[in-house]
Amino acid sequence: TYVVTDNCIKCKYTDCVSVCPVDCFYEGENFLVIHPDECIDCGVCEPECPAEAIKPDTEPGLEKWLTLNADYAKVWPNITDRKDPLPEAKEWDGVPDKLQYLSP
Ligand code: SF4
Ligand code: F3S
Repeated sequence: TYVVTDNCIKCKYTDCVSVCPVDCFYEGENFLVIHPDECIDCGVCEPECPAEAIKPDTEPGLEKWLTLNADYAKVWPNITDRKDPLPEAKEWDGVPDKLQYLSP
């Protein structure tokens, strides 16, 4: 599966959503997640993210993010259409350690 990681938080560009063939993105207030049981590993969303926040779970050190994606995918609503990024997306793009700002 692919996972959404740190740099999506407070940016939420949503370009990823429009390309996913199985609509497996779920939306929180300032972050999106991928449902790991629904993702078919096609990889098309990874290059679409302007924040480079989407990574294959084969990359080392992503266990925490995989758990987070799996947990929130169960409770957040499905999102299937692109929308405007968050208003301060540009300012927050690249800020380190954004997990502390995640709105549950
Ligand atoms: Fe969707 Fe493919 Fe990205 Fe998985 S890898 S979330 S199936 S676009
Ligand atoms: Fe987030 Fe990137 Fe999608 S910022 S909403 S993972 S395009």
